[in-house]
Amino acid sequence: MSTDSRSVLSLRGLSYRYPDGTAALEDVSLDLREGERLALMGPNGAGKSTLLLHLNALLDGDGNLEVDGMALSKATVRTIRQKVGLVFQNPDDQLFCPTVFEDVAFGPRNMGLPDTEVERRVHGSLQAVGLDGFERRNPAHLSIGEKKRAAIATVHAMRPLVFVLDEPTGNLDARGRRGLLDLLLSLEGAQIIVTHDLELVRAVCSRVLVMGAGRIVTEGAVPDILADPAKLEVWGLA
Ligand SMILES: Nc1ncnc2c1ncn2[C@@H]1O[C@H](COP(=O)(O)OP(=O)(O)OP(=O)(O)O)[C@@H](O)[C@H]1O
Ligand SMILES: [Mg+2]
Repeated sequence: MSTDSRSVLSLRGLSYRYPDGTAALEDVSLDLREGERLALMGPNGAGKSTLLLHLNALLDGDGNLEVDGMALSKATVRTIRQKVGLVFQNPDDQLFCPTVFEDVAFGPRNMGLPDTEVERRVHGSLQAVGLDGFERRNPAHLSIGEKKRAAIATVHAMRPLVFVLDEPTGNLDARGRRGLLDLLLSLEGAQIIVTHDLELVRAVCSRVLVMGAGRIVTEGAVPDILADPAKLEVWGLA
């Protein structure tokens, strides 16, 4: 990845407190370049999911977010939500329709695409995540691994500029996990992937950002960050 490629997402000085007073993020900044796959790591409670919720404006802390050269504002929030596709940690937060087809069609329809294109995208995205033929199934009755893949399909169908995935390999079986790594490697958009899966990071990502207690504690190239077992333990990654 050349360092002079275009910035697709930039976050500056984000701090956030939950309404109950919990300080979840302190002065977090990050940059994502076109086509880059960035791993976001750190122990439970470090603030990773909270950070992701800010990237497509589901939470609104203090700080500045810019996506594709566009600053977040009331006027741009809808476009930014289309450009930054968030796959939630818990797929039940993503799937709410009576059929898998409807769930995957929801985003493309919302974008105003014609029915034929919506259908084309639904089938293409289900195929991409290995859920060919699941169109008529009820998402509530899928296995957890199938739900995770369906949740990724709902975002994939919107062709986002940036994929943001919160623990995509959690609950996947070995084959599902390999399929997911291949899928991540094949996606065109840039990616921010929250994961505890060191193998995923090695196979898919070029850069790692490590969080702890609401802050960025270190960042760097994957081989550099993952090289020292003692440091991995200090950062809560191993
Ligand atoms: N809705 C909420 N209200 C109050 N505090 C919250 C809420 N959601 C999360 N928190 C707190 O904010 C902090 C960051 O939580 P977050 O879910 O972002 O961590 P995480 O890094 O994603 O952890 P994990 O690896 O367990 O998913 C934690 O201290 C958590 O308890
Ligand atoms: Mg989380």
